[in-house]
Parts: sequence; C-alpha cells; structure tokens
Amino acid sequence: MSANEARQPARSDAEHCRIRANFLKGPAISEIVHNRSSRLEGFYRRSLEDRVALISEWAALTSEETALLADSVGSKHADLMIENVVGRFAMPFGIGANFLIDGRDYLIPMAIEEPSVVAAVSSAALLARAGGGFSTGSTDPVMIAQIQLLDVADAVKAKSAILASKERILACADTSPSLSRLGGGPQGIEVRHLPDTPAGPMLIVHLLIDCRDAMGANAANTAAEAAAPVIEQLSGGRAGLRILSNLSDRRRAWAEVEVPAEAFDSNDYTGGDVIRGIAEANAFAVADTYRATTHNKGIFNGIDAVLLATGNDWRAVEAGAHAWAARDGQYRALTDWYVHGDGDSETLYGRLELPLAVGTVGGATRSHPSARLALKILGFDSDGTNAHGSGNCCPDSNTGAQSDSFGAKRLSEIVAAVGLAQNLAALRALATTGIQKGHMRLHARQVAVSAGAKGEAVEYIAGQLIAEGRVRVERARELLQT
Ligand code: MEV
Repeated sequence: MSANEARQPARSDAEHCRIRANFLKGPAISEIVHNRSSRLEGFYRRSLEDRVALISEWAALTSEETALLADSVGSKHADLMIENVVGRFAMPFGIGANFLIDGRDYLIPMAIEEPSVVAAVSSAALLARAGGGFSTGSTDPVMIAQIQLLDVADAVKAKSAILASKERILACADTSPSLSRLGGGPQGIEVRHLPDTPAGPMLIVHLLIDCRDAMGANAANTAAEAAAPVIEQLSGGRAGLRILSNLSDRRRAWAEVEVPAEAFDSNDYTGGDVIRGIAEANAFAVADTYRATTHNKGIFNGIDAVLLATGNDWRAVEAGAHAWAARDGQYRALTDWYVHGDGDSETLYGRLELPLAVGTVGGATRSHPSARLALKILGFDSDGTNAHGSGNCCPDSNTGAQSDSFGAKRLSEIVAAVGLAQNLAALRALATTGIQKGHMRLHARQVAVSAGAKGEAVEYIAGQLIAEGRVRVERARELLQT
C-alpha cells in the first residue's frame, strides 16, 4: 500500500475550492495572499478551515497537500520510517505569523505541544516589523567528522604525516559524487592531540565537509569511515570512532533585530522601561547558568518547533547549541540584547548566533509528508533550494535574484530568526507582567480538555476556570458535571 493509500481520503477538489472561496471572501485575507504579507491580523480568530485555506493559498498547495496538513503520515508510512512501529504520535502543526526576514515575508510552520509558543513568537515577529524585521546570515554548511586514533607512538610525527597527506585523505573522504557536483564535499583537515584522557593519549582528526543542503550526518559518517584506514596507516595508530560531531561550530547562523522603544509602549509600561528590562533579563542569563538554561530553553521552544515541522534533527541542533553556549567554560545565554541610543531615539538591539546543522534535502525532510509541506510553506522547492537565497548574500544587481540559493543556509537563518523572536517574546513578558497571564487561557483550555470537555464546552470551561482563578482539572470536572 502506498503512503497516499494509507492516509485518509483527500478532500474532493470541489470541497477544497469551497473552503478556499469562503475564506477568500474576506477582502483583507485575499489582500494578504496577493501581497505575500505574513502580517496575519486576527489569524487566530479564524476557524481551522479558514486557516488551512489561507496556508493552502499562500503556498499554492494542491488539494492532496492541503488534506495532508490535517492528516499526514499514515501508520504504513511510519512503519517505513523507524523500527517497531505501533502507531503514530500527532502534534499540533501551527503557523508563526508576521515574520519579515531580510525583507521577505515568511509564514513559519511550527510543530509543538506547548501552549502560547506560537502566539508569543507571532507577537514578537510583529514587534520586529516595527524595526524592519530580522536580518540574518550564515556560514557555509561545513560539518566536522571525527576520527579517533589510539596507540599512536609519536603524536607529533603522526600529526605532520597526516597534515602532509591532506589531499590524499580528502580524496578518500570524497564519497559523495552528488555533493561534489554541487561544490560541496571534504574541504579540510585538522588534527588535535588529547594527551590526557581516561583511556590514555589520543589523536583526533577532523574532516571538514561542506554538506550543501543536507544536514550531513550520513555524508560525514561515510567520509570518516572511508578515510579512516589511510589515516590509521599514516599515524601508525589504531582508528576508534568515526563519526560526525554535533558541535557543528563551523556551520552557524545568526539573526539580528533592532526595534524602536516606542513599539513596546503599552498602557502599563513605557517602551523605554520594557527594553531596559529586556536588556537586564538578558544580562542575568549571560552571567548565570541557572537562568541561562531557562533562557535558552525558551529560544528552543521556537527553534525546535520549526526543526520538528521541517523534519530536522532537533536533538543534534540542541546538543550543538548547548555546547556552543558553554564555549568559554561557562554555560551562558545564546543571545545578546542591548539598549542603543537614548531619549526618543532609544532602540532595542538583539542578536542570536548558534550552530545550526539543518537540511532541506534527505532524511525526514523529504520522506515525511508534513515536513515536505512545511518546507513548501517556507518557499523551498522540491530540490531543497530556496529562490530567496540566503541573508548574507547580495542580490544580483541586474535581476534582483540571490545568486546563493542554498536551501539549508536559508533554513538555518529562518530558524535563527524564529529563535530570536521567541526569546524576545519571553523576555518582554518576563520583564513586564510575567508569563503566566498570557499562558493561562491556553493552559485552561488544555485543563478543560483533560477533564473531558469537548467542542464549545472547552472555551466555556476554560473561561470559567480563569474567572474563578482555579485552573485545575478537578474544578473543570466539577463544572462539566453541573
Ligand atoms: C517557557 O517554556 C519558556 C520560558 O521559561 C523562557 C524564559 O524564561 O526565557 C518563558
């Protein structure tokens, strides 16, 4: 049975058209789609069907793809993806709105179970628009593959022999013709000496591999295994592990934003007070590991949701970013936030930089139907490239097109912008009213559902719980019985 057959039947074309037509009746929405603006005012108030219709229109999804938004990978398909499958575990798939990144509008697919994350990131992206949105950039997509050498009699001699044979080693490691054809593949070698480990001294060889649009775990591991015998011979030692490093510190992305203070003005707070509070909150996380851990967790609320939605390995990115956050010996905030200027010209400047090994081809990015859709919503073509190019690459002066169309670079930049926005939302709430107020309605809904509420009763019970200030499952059960 094919993956398609394993899914629920797709909506008929007529039904699909009816949903679209109903939705597009609203002039504001048809304008949004026409203008390619991610500024989705009142999106959350629309029905689920309306939201699906807008995304379908935005990303030019077929009727089958539109149906997939609601019901993606079937059990038969899941059985092909991992071992011992007994079912599927669905997550909410939402859209982060209002993102302006390097002058382009993006709707951000996010898969996450935690309430408030999508709403918060959308509100921060709206704030960022007041300062022209996010600017991003990234390094080349270079991964590190490690080869561990043991029992090396003369480390200094072995190191020079390995470095002197760089071209030979790189040729052995060049195992992917498709990567080389695209200008990627093994690019360099490093040798590190670990004189004092619990198992004695070791020599560690790093192969630096440009993975283009792939996340690159397979490319790096294959290259390490292929190059190990020659490295072993050159060193006179014994090869142990041959595996990528998830501390992909050569493959980083960053995002920046600068927002005028007045964008933060509210009835209760002046914008100046809010942005100073945000800078102070960040300083706390730069200086204190306990706070930095929570601070960075909030960044990953956004980052992981996009990685999951696009079929990327969020554990790899988390591992690399946490190690990077501790690169000077203390675990710290991944962000910087400063107040620039003074008086009427005060602005809040923020920056996030981290290792971001992501792919737009290979693995679940293409084998999982929802991940394919998520990438399509972000503007990626089926070959994994993105016509928008990358943030740190200049448009062609004649055509306006970006010459660098690496998909993975672009995805890493979008992800960095989402992480920065998520952090801005959290710090803004923490520096003002605290996070519980905004969190409570969504939390109350979940409590109502856990107590057994269905349909319209969910909103009603949630409202009652909040009004009473008792957001508890037992109380929700009592209310359901009355
Ligand atoms: C909650 O999931 C995330 C926050 O704790 C992040 C933070 O404290 O910065 C709100």
